[in-house]
Amino acid sequence: MAKELFAGQRQNKYKIVISKEAILRKNLAPLLKQHNKTLIISDDGVPQKIVRKVTGISKPFSKVFKVILEHGENAKSVQNFQKILNYLADNNFDRTDLIVAVGGGVVGDISGYVASSYLRGIEFIQIPTTLLAQVDSSVGGKTAINISAGKNLVGAFYNPKGVIIDTTVLKTLPNREFKAGLAEVIKYALIENKSLFSLLETHAKKILSMENNVIEEIIFRSIQTKAKIVTKDERENGIRAILNFGHTFGHAIEAHGKYKKILHGEAIAKGMKIASKISYLENLITEKDHTKIIDLLHLYEFDLSLNQYKFQKLKPYIFRDKKIKAGKLNLVLLNQISKAIITSSFDVKNLQRGLKD
Ligand SMILES: NC(=O)c1ccc[n+]([C@@H]2O[C@H](COP(=O)([O-])OP(=O)(O)OC[C@H]3O[C@@H](n4cnc5c(N)ncnc54)[C@H](O)[C@@H]3O)[C@@H](O)[C@H]2O)c1
Ligand SMILES: [Zn+2]
Repeated sequence: MAKELFAGQRQNKYKIVISKEAILRKNLAPLLKQHNKTLIISDDGVPQKIVRKVTGISKPFSKVFKVILEHGENAKSVQNFQKILNYLADNNFDRTDLIVAVGGGVVGDISGYVASSYLRGIEFIQIPTTLLAQVDSSVGGKTAINISAGKNLVGAFYNPKGVIIDTTVLKTLPNREFKAGLAEVIKYALIENKSLFSLLETHAKKILSMENNVIEEIIFRSIQTKAKIVTKDERENGIRAILNFGHTFGHAIEAHGKYKKILHGEAIAKGMKIASKISYLENLITEKDHTKIIDLLHLYEFDLSLNQYKFQKLKPYIFRDKKIKAGKLNLVLLNQISKAIITSSFDVKNLQRGLKD
């Protein structure tokens, strides 16, 4: 069953469509109308069948151009950013034209940033093709590229005109990528969404074997939570920070490993284990709830081992986290399952204890 949601405030409100085979003329037509030219941005790891489908639907509406980047995090570069801007200018794109991102978070992030800056902003659509992009990066309006000083250091808050989530495209996604995306789904369950938590507890087998109905449902519930939070706090002045649950530690683990070997979601699973343990050590959640959380992470087969991460090694990365305000480390912890809090008052010793297996 097709599902619909909205995110964004007032004139920046946009529709998110979720269904099996969502890449359809009927879903795209309302978004493609009124544009003379469309630039489709994708990468060479995205099955080209998906890109061709979007191209085919777009052609009757506008002149279609295409940029296919080399896949991988390095595609979010200043060089590619400039290359795409020049391509738009060379082809006389004006402010009424459109960008369509077809791909994972990498494609979505750079496409959105290009859209936010070309001629001070042209409209764009997200067609996310990884689970991570479907439940996370395509909704919320954060766009970014990387510079040599660090990941996502340059970007803008810029909402898309619409998001089309087609669950069938996940079939070609490598299993490891799919499972890494599930870490963000678990995150939404832990920070806000009780019904998602129960669904994850009871339907692990169906989810891991990618049964469509239940996949559609977990994507829907994930976005329900994300849309609610980002609509309340579009520019991350407050509540939006709870979306970073597990990320202070996860980012430290990723950075410590120089972003190799471990996928973002795999690091976030370990980060959520640490944040949950600290929540327990701070007497915010019961032992029983703590066990329930760890059991859920195990149910989805995450490797939660922490023995290779020494606190002293991770510490500099933990304290370099973007979430530090006025020299204070703000942690996202749990007050109970499905209720996150942001706090800077915690026992620093528990940071180290939280890292113990
Ligand atoms: N803007 C945000 O709010 C936000 C949130 C979370 C993450 N991100 C960003 O998202 C990026 C990670 O996104 P990602 O995990 O989607 O990685 P990704 O975009 O690199 O995609 C992973 C790989 O899967 C391939 N792929 C994509 N769709 C496929 C499909 N349907 N079948 C087979 N292969 C497919 C891609 O070509 C790529 O090689 C990071 O750069 C991160 O910073 C942004
Ligand atoms: Zn994340």
